[in-house]
Amino acid sequence: MVDWDREYLSTRGIGVKLPLRSGFGRTDRIDGWWKGPTAMAAYLGIMILYSTWRGMMEADFWIFENFGRSAGYSTMAIESEGSHVLSPLFSPLIIPGQGTFGGPIPEFLWWMSPAMFILIFPAGFRGTCYYYRKAYYRAFFQQPTGCAVSKPWNEYSGETGLLVVQNLHRYFMYIALAYLPILSYDVWLSVNFHDAAHVHHYGISVGTIVLLINVLMLTGYTIGCHAFRHVIGGGSNDWTGTPMSKLKYRMWKVSTKLNEKHKEWALYSLFWVMFTDFYVYACTDPFFGWRDIVLWGGL
Ligand code: FES
Repeated sequence: MVDWDREYLSTRGIGVKLPLRSGFGRTDRIDGWWKGPTAMAAYLGIMILYSTWRGMMEADFWIFENFGRSAGYSTMAIESEGSHVLSPLFSPLIIPGQGTFGGPIPEFLWWMSPAMFILIFPAGFRGTCYYYRKAYYRAFFQQPTGCAVSKPWNEYSGETGLLVVQNLHRYFMYIALAYLPILSYDVWLSVNFHDAAHVHHYGISVGTIVLLINVLMLTGYTIGCHAFRHVIGGGSNDWTGTPMSKLKYRMWKVSTKLNEKHKEWALYSLFWVMFTDFYVYACTDPFFGWRDIVLWGGL
């Protein structure tokens, strides 16, 4: 049935009944339609819980006094032989009350974890991402439960009300772009070793490689963003007239290539961010006893 048919019927109060069973999860489908949303709910749920727990671990809450910074040692960065491998959940490092960035933070906020000052931006970027929206609307909100599968509620009002915040995605994308040089700088810091006398050496550790893969994964995810692709390619009528239009065309082609696999970039880059943080955590907490092995150079 085409749209104007539907419109004609609805203007005359004639409802269009789809052949759908009623009752949450009921369907005539015989394939494993529920596996994807269930796996996604588990995956995103674990990632959200882990990042929240890690972010709070480095705060000065009494409930976390046996862990992290609250317990007297930091699990945000590996200080291995003078190199500095910083977890991406805490980069750029803003320690309340300390340093250039943390110094101006008022004392009543000093209980906060460094992650709490920055995670809002990557979380906002992923939370408003076109791919993630599709994923978590289905996985968590059953909106819809699945194609041709009955959902627990009938009403659908689109992305209105509170959900207009999803329109901020483009602005989160601009901030996400700024994170790429910051995280690249962290890779650079991790290859610079300083001994006790402050003599400088270059080196590469496993942590360096883990950070580098993280930047590459996040670059693939961010450059393949629908909003980024639109910003560089949208509104262009000419791909060849000027050097700038040729450059835009090349960038648009790269973005399009990455965009075709945006789902994979979204999911794998999220995993790698969390793994990178876990690597730093495991190398700094005596409970795990991991060591950041230097592969080349160093002290
Ligand atoms: S659409 Fe996924 S990051 Fe922009």
